[in-house]
Amino acid sequence: MSAAATSVAPLAIRGRVLSFDADPALVPSGGRGAVRYIEDGLVLVEDGLIKAVGEAPAMLRELSAQVMVADHRPHLILPGFIDPHLHMPQTQVVASYGAELMEWLQKYTFPEESRYGDPAVAAGASRFLLDELLANGTTTAAVFCTTHPGSVDAFFAESLSRGLRMVAGKVMMDRNAPPALLDAAEEGAADSEALIARWHGRGRLEYAISPRFAPTSSEAQLEATAALARAHPDLHVQTHLSENLGEIDFVKQLFPWAADYTAVYERYGLVRPKGLFGHCIHLGDREWRAMARGGATAVFCPTSNLFLGSGLFDLARARVEGVKVGLATDIGGGTSYSMLRTASEAYKVLALRGQTLPAFEAFHMMTAGNAAAMGLEERIGRIAPGLEADMVVLDSQATTALRRRMERVDNLADELFALLVLGDERSTVATYAAGRRVFDRRSGPARPAHAARATMPDAQLGPQAGEAAAAQQQ
Ligand code: GUN
Ligand code: FE
Repeated sequence: MSAAATSVAPLAIRGRVLSFDADPALVPSGGRGAVRYIEDGLVLVEDGLIKAVGEAPAMLRELSAQVMVADHRPHLILPGFIDPHLHMPQTQVVASYGAELMEWLQKYTFPEESRYGDPAVAAGASRFLLDELLANGTTTAAVFCTTHPGSVDAFFAESLSRGLRMVAGKVMMDRNAPPALLDAAEEGAADSEALIARWHGRGRLEYAISPRFAPTSSEAQLEATAALARAHPDLHVQTHLSENLGEIDFVKQLFPWAADYTAVYERYGLVRPKGLFGHCIHLGDREWRAMARGGATAVFCPTSNLFLGSGLFDLARARVEGVKVGLATDIGGGTSYSMLRTASEAYKVLALRGQTLPAFEAFHMMTAGNAAAMGLEERIGRIAPGLEADMVVLDSQATTALRRRMERVDNLADELFALLVLGDERSTVATYAAGRRVFDRRSGPARPAHAARATMPDAQLGPQAGEAAAAQQQ
């Protein structure tokens, strides 16, 4: 399958190229050996893929004059950010006051999701969400839609038209929620099967089997989900696990036979590679081992965990147990679309646990780490030949606070750390997906209707050189 929906003229992107060949946490001497950084770098893109990466002066001497160069100096060029857990129908749930998980679901989230039976509501939210993600430099996400199959149609249609690699699924839930949101055991699986047939593998879209969480699925539904998962062993599975103490008590009541919460998902074959388990805050010893044995991923959602008062994720424990970890926004329990803000809150959560998150590890997590957490490391997450050309260009001097701080910064690790703590979407200069410019901070999102602008030569040498000059003057 070609990454590119359409063939576009070769493009080269110039700037300070930063990518990670390995997890800096696993590389001795501060992880520097994992960092691939080119001060004056060039990324050559063809047919949606990265063709070559190297030193700009040498590469430019060899390149044909046909190749347009987008000159982003002095900005950073990174792999597009990856967000392995968020909810499309919760963009208007974000910042709902004063509740822990179970009350928050009943009071705000379920009523809001009930509106998504209307395809126009789902289409509007999908457009908004993708605009917002691209403005924040996020090019791939694992997305929960609602119970309504039409919500998945809306999200995938919008993602396909923008050429994005997106993973999403219809939520399955058949109890403990308002009737308007419930499916039934066989119906939920059959609707999911139809959506897989309709969307999985089209463009860069991938379907995720999405039981919401154990409390909202009957055993009959989990049986049907197990059959669906067996029939599609390569698909993602996404759900929630061990987020809140009240939730865990509820699971104990609902599944008295289960040794613990994780055992419920294990019984139905869901703890497996490409299984994305949101939160995993209160796991017991046996559960950590089960996650490791299954090859599943624990997804750390710091802004959500703080906002809903759920608890503090234990990154060191996950590493000791050999459990893969993702870092995600969890919009709308989470409070920011920005992976920079998310990593900044991750740092603070870990600080409360007496743990640290060095800048290189954080930027690895947002890119190659999240790609590996989602089993997509062969396609996205690094700037390397053969990978899909999803990239974000970041300005580490985008605000007065950043500029002030950078006056006292003289190395890359400190620059990245300050960018992570003080940065947000204002630092996004441009976002590229499959080599097309899908966001530009001067003109906003390149929606499909005017996508042509994203590859027009006027976005290349002149304005870019002007912007670089303006930034250097400051
Ligand atoms: N657990 C079940 N559903 C949800 C949800 O929508 N958000 C969060 N944070 N946790 C959940
Ligand atoms: Fe969630």
